[in-house]
Formats: sequence, structure tokens, C-alpha cells
Amino acid sequence: MDKLIYLDNASTSWPKPDNVYKFMVEFYRSCGVNPGRSKSNKAVEAGNIIEDLRKRLTSFFGGDEDTPERLCFGYNATEALNLIIQGLLSSGDHVVTTNLEHNSVIRPINHLVRDNGVRATYVPFNEQGFVEPDDIKKAIKSNTKLVIVNHGSNVLGTVQPVAEIGAICREAGVTFAIDVSQTAGMVPINMKEMNIDVLAFTGHKSLMGSTGIGGICVRKHLDIRHTRSGGTGTQSAFPFHPDEYPYRMEYGTPNMVGIASLMAGLDWIEEAGGIDAIYTHETKLARKLIDGFHQTEGVITYCCDSMENHIATVTMNVEGLKAGDVGIMLDVDFNIATRTGLHCAPLVHKQLGLVDINGAVRFSIGPFNTDEHINASIEAIKEIAKRAREMKRPTKQST
Ligand code: ALA
Repeated sequence: MDKLIYLDNASTSWPKPDNVYKFMVEFYRSCGVNPGRSKSNKAVEAGNIIEDLRKRLTSFFGGDEDTPERLCFGYNATEALNLIIQGLLSSGDHVVTTNLEHNSVIRPINHLVRDNGVRATYVPFNEQGFVEPDDIKKAIKSNTKLVIVNHGSNVLGTVQPVAEIGAICREAGVTFAIDVSQTAGMVPINMKEMNIDVLAFTGHKSLMGSTGIGGICVRKHLDIRHTRSGGTGTQSAFPFHPDEYPYRMEYGTPNMVGIASLMAGLDWIEEAGGIDAIYTHETKLARKLIDGFHQTEGVITYCCDSMENHIATVTMNVEGLKAGDVGIMLDVDFNIATRTGLHCAPLVHKQLGLVDINGAVRFSIGPFNTDEHINASIEAIKEIAKRAREMKRPTKQST
């Protein structure tokens, strides 16, 4: 097989739609100036695309449409999650989170636990890969200030019941934050209906933008403390970082090419029939891949028996082989790109008991994958599983 089969879309979607590449170049050539730093026509034009995108994304996430300035741009979800966690928790506070989290949640929380007197509870997931809302409820204490949950697991693909968890948090008066890195552009999100107070997103996965663009959407009843400061292009004589949104959560010159890419990514999603159509295409392929794996001797899959509340991410192992070795065979012998290891989500692997075999092999499907890619992946895994069985077979002893 000459052509790369890319099945690592949970890391970043690739390729991007043609209109995204085209618009990034066109926009940067025609309008690549610094917005908000001068009153020139070009600077105003560059500023307009940011304001249009704030409005568009606020409505996409079901945020407060009368305060689009609370959709703030940054580099990625990791940065947004740091702003949320560090800006909401103080010494003596308790946070509830889950074993499904990415290191972008685990590490900022662990730093606060180690260095700043914050306490944390990690709620496990059930056998199907879902966090039980009741377990979140039981974990909430009188000093719990934040519940933070990964909407779609980047390892298991399971989509968490955030509306139920949101209702629990609202009743308990606890701020509810979600990480939509894997679900934005794939699964409908409505912050108002789901009682989500703040979310962190990235642009380079199912929103089809480039790397280096992401952000935060904050509901109007919530304020997040500054944990950074810098230039905003406004109030230059004021010695501190301004409190007003979006400046409150934005630092320095924005990634204008990334913003352009995200605008074009949203256009493409609409042209492709919307997120439901893309979800249907990807999960149909995921179903086929899982069925193929289930029919292959020596293949173990994790939390993907049903595609209900599941994105097109399929994680598996081949008995007798380390995940990394399967990944190398897929890459070198079959030209198939996957991601192996712990996927920056060590607690998922720890709960599944996979740390000792270096985690698992993740196939993550994107909108440009086809039936042929899936067929080739199933055949490749069949061949790798056969090799593993042959390696296990005892060799004849010489007499
Ligand atoms: N968090 C990304 C992944 O799951 C990079 O691969």
C-alpha cells in the first residue's frame, strides 16, 4: 500500500478540507495584520473576523448569545483548561474530576494539589467507559468548587452524560466545566441546556481548523480569576490585565491564521451537511472496524461494543504484543498511522490495567476516511494477530 492511511484524527484531523487551506493563505496574504492594535482599515477587517467567529462559536456551543465576548481565543484546549482550573480553584477548595481526563486536566489539578492546598477526587468510569452521574453527585462535598469532565474520551471514545452531570452541579451550586476537545464539531453541545458553566475547546480536531487555535467559552454568571497577564491592545496605561472579556482571557497577539482556519472549518462542516452527517459517516466506519476486530482471534477492544454515545475512536490491543509494537507494524508494514501508548490520559489506562503493556492502539476516524481504509486496517490487524499467534506457538525441540 503506497498511500498513507491516516487514522489518528483524535490527535489532529488531517488532511484539512481544501477550503481551510485556501482561506488561511488568502486571509493571511490579504489581511495578516495585528487586530485591535491600530485603527487602520486592515486592522479593523482583521478584528471583524475575530468578532464574527466569537458570535458563531458562542451560538455553536449554545453559550450566552448576548455576550459573545466571553468566547475567548487562545492556543489550544490545554491552555484553556489551565486558565479554568487555575482561575477557579484556591487553597482549601475541592475539585471533582474523572479517570477519563487528559493530562491537560490531570496535571494542572495535581500541581494545585501538590503546591496550593487544593483537594481532588477522581471518579472512575464504569465497564462501558461512562462516568455515572450519581458517582459525581456522591463525590461533591461542601468545599467542592469545580466539577470538570472530559466530554468525549480521547482513549475510549465514550461521550459522557454531561447534561445529567450539569443538572447535578447546578443543584449543588458547583461550577461545571467540560473539555470538548474530542467532541466539538462532532457531538451537539448546548451550554445553556446542559448547565455547562465553562468549556474548553480546540480548533484542530473535528472543528477542522489548524493547530494553535482554541479557547474558552464562559457563561455570563461566571468570572475566572486572571492567572496570566500581558498585552491586549487596549488600556495600555492601565498597570494590570483588564477585567473585561474577551481581554480578560486573551493574552498577546492572537493567532489570526488559526482564527481564519476555524472560520473556514465551520463553513466546511455546514457544507458537509452539519455535524450529524459527519458523525453518521464516521461512526458507520467505526462500527465496521469494531466488527472486523471482534471477528479477529486475539484482538481485544475497549468500551466500544455500542456506538451509542460514542465517537469514532476505537482502542484495542493484540494479545501477546505491546501496543507500541503493533503501532510500528501498522506504520512500517501497512502504512497505517495510529496512536499508541497512554494517549496523555494515564488514568484511563491505569483503570483498565494497561500501563504494563504500554497502553493500547488507538484508531481514530475522520471525515475523509473511507471503507477501503477500514478494510485495509482490519486486514492489517488480522495479519499482525496471526504473527502474534505464530510467535507464541512453541517451537519443536531438537532431539
Ligand atoms: N490529545 C490528543 C490525542 O489524544 C493529542 O492524541
